[in-house]
Amino acid sequence: MKHGGSRRRRLSVQTMVVVFVICSAGVGLLMTMTMLILRPLDTPPNTSADVFLPVENDVDSSQLLEETETETETESESESETKTSTVSNPKRCATVEEMGEDFKGSVREESLKVRKLIQRHFDLNGASRVRNLPPEQFCKHGFVLGKASEAGFGNEMYKILTGAALSVMLNRSLIIGQTRGKYPFGEYISYSNVSFTLEEVKHLWRRNGCLKKYGRHLVMRIDDFEKPPQTNVLCSNWRKWEQPIIWFQGTTDAVAAQFFLKNVHPEMRNAANDLFGHPESLHARPNVFGELMRVLISPSEDVEEAVKWVLGNGVDPDISLHMRMLTNRSVRAVQAAVKCIRKVVNSLNLTSRPKTVIVSDTPSFAKTITPNISEFAEVLYFDYKAFRGNISHDVNRLPSLEFRAKDWGPAPRWVAFVDFFLASRAKHAVVSGAFRRVGTTYAQLIAALAAANSLGDNSTDLSFSFLSSFQSNLLTGGLRLQVGWGHVWNRFAGPLSCHHQSHQCAFTPLLPPAWWDGLWESPIPRDINRLAAFGVHLSGFGTVDENRLQSFCSSKKNSVKTSLII
Ligand SMILES: *[C@@H]1O[C@H](CO)[C@@H](O)[C@H](O)[C@H]1NC(C)=O
Ligand SMILES: *[C@@H]1O[C@H](CO)[C@@H](O)[C@H](O)[C@H]1NC(C)=O
Ligand SMILES: *[C@@H]1O[C@H](CO)[C@@H](O)[C@H](O)[C@H]1NC(C)=O
Ligand SMILES: *[C@@H]1O[C@H](CO)[C@@H](O)[C@H](O)[C@H]1NC(C)=O
Ligand SMILES: *[C@@H]1O[C@H](CO)[C@@H](O)[C@H](O)[C@H]1NC(C)=O
Ligand SMILES: *[C@@H]1O[C@H](CO)[C@@H](O)[C@H](O)[C@H]1NC(C)=O
Ligand SMILES: *[C@@H]1O[C@H](CO)[C@@H](O)[C@H](O)[C@H]1NC(C)=O
Repeated sequence: MKHGGSRRRRLSVQTMVVVFVICSAGVGLLMTMTMLILRPLDTPPNTSADVFLPVENDVDSSQLLEETETETETESESESETKTSTVSNPKRCATVEEMGEDFKGSVREESLKVRKLIQRHFDLNGASRVRNLPPEQFCKHGFVLGKASEAGFGNEMYKILTGAALSVMLNRSLIIGQTRGKYPFGEYISYSNVSFTLEEVKHLWRRNGCLKKYGRHLVMRIDDFEKPPQTNVLCSNWRKWEQPIIWFQGTTDAVAAQFFLKNVHPEMRNAANDLFGHPESLHARPNVFGELMRVLISPSEDVEEAVKWVLGNGVDPDISLHMRMLTNRSVRAVQAAVKCIRKVVNSLNLTSRPKTVIVSDTPSFAKTITPNISEFAEVLYFDYKAFRGNISHDVNRLPSLEFRAKDWGPAPRWVAFVDFFLASRAKHAVVSGAFRRVGTTYAQLIAALAAANSLGDNSTDLSFSFLSSFQSNLLTGGLRLQVGWGHVWNRFAGPLSCHHQSHQCAFTPLLPPAWWDGLWESPIPRDINRLAAFGVHLSGFGTVDENRLQSFCSSKKNSVKTSLII
């Protein structure tokens, strides 16, 4: 344990000083304690708890389909500046690289443990066993629905992965929702046979006579994460829910499933801790979403064909770079990314010339940066215009949405799936950079899947790194621009993030944090407001007031929304 996590913040400054004196003989503790002292005292949140500012959806898909970029600039000019500037002196803040020190080490042990947990889960609750259960057992069995549409891939994939994570926590089977008999992104993604479709569950429900013989309706309970006053994510013991199907709706990023880490019922918290680890132990949190993807999805044949075409000799890349550029040609973004790739290459200590794959929402970007990276690495990217495969005959299989075309640029959207599965073959590192928003859901999922792919069951592999590349101009006001919950650095965006940083190339968590319990995590005012609507009173540095949450939950009226299927 390097850092004291949330417990630390509950100490008053006096206690900290006493502790410091007691411990200062212990050299090992000295550094940590000094950091604790330097961290400013928890201040009350600077916004009142009863104001909930409805925010537009943070949906941030990075590729395929992008939200419009209106909110960011206004956020950056938020009036909180004067309040945060009082704590932005250099000793009381960290750079992104300093924040990333927690994520430098390997999480292989934690991830392998979760891999086993997931495997046991699907052995027990996978479709092949459950569909053969005798009727009286089948009719008592529980399911979780993971349902996605075909908007931005990152957000939609997180909806399915949240369903999968919840199925593990609740010991239920997973249903992946289809639309008119088709899986989400079904032409590009194959789904493994561990999950059910709703059609099959309905069929089995009838065949087993669950209603006729056992009087059990097929009912789905729906909980909408996007409606904070109604969701039961923090206040209810979902393991006690009787409805055969549960749908946790509106879960577009890594955050929603991790809300259970602070649920008031110990049983729910334990289930969440088993899967996600402890929110204050940032350095030891497993690659949950990567491990889930490894079990659930693979590229379709058409996509796989294109990936193989890019790789040519079949050797997987060492490094992937994802740059979300929104068609901008920021020179500084290129500079920072080149520097970051160079740092990774040096640290890898490879004997041969490393192989680097470049993917971007802006196809011309790969050509721009290639000469700079090919000075020290072999560069590959998917030149879709030159590809003649089955997939390229069908340019517009996903409906194109004109108003978002400027985000995506001129490439057809299927290219993003080839890019995704290509980049997720990286053996050693994924680097995420951007014109503005670094570590979007799309980049997170590339890194998570690559890390899971590279983690062999045997113990000799090199460790895997996920890095974020920030050009200095993105960090003028610290990490404040990383406002959306879909961004991996959002939980670090508050007052502890230093202003005016130089270019950063920072180790990044494979599991984006959902709470603010780490040493350098702190919320932005907007998130303090947003959490208030969930009944969570966050301190200025992100500590949850558990007593207030308890009393919020005891007075909360239990809202139950269900839908009768059979
Ligand atoms: C999970 O459910 C199965 C039945 O499907 C049961 O045998 C098992 O004990 C449950 N495990 C836990 C941890 O609740
Ligand atoms: C499910 O898929 C796995 C791996 O692809 C395969 O080994 C297994 O036989 C399949 N099971 C069923 C019931 O189809
Ligand atoms: C890139 O973004 C900057 C800042 O928003 C803008 O001034 C510039 O014109 C953009 N460049 C391109 C090529 O879009
Ligand atoms: C990248 O290479 C081009 C052409 O070789 C050069 O003009 C540019 O300055 C380089 N950019 C960086 C960031 O090194
Ligand atoms: C890098 O490789 C050299 C030669 O193989 C070796 O001596 C050195 O210890 C390696 N460094 C690291 C950090 O692995
Ligand atoms: C491409 O399509 C043709 C004709 O439908 C089919 O025979 C072939 O197997 C496909 N190739 C791949 C890689 O799916
Ligand atoms: C891992 O080790 C086991 C036992 O030593 C061996 O049977 C297996 O083939 C190894 N797997 C890989 C992927 O190397």
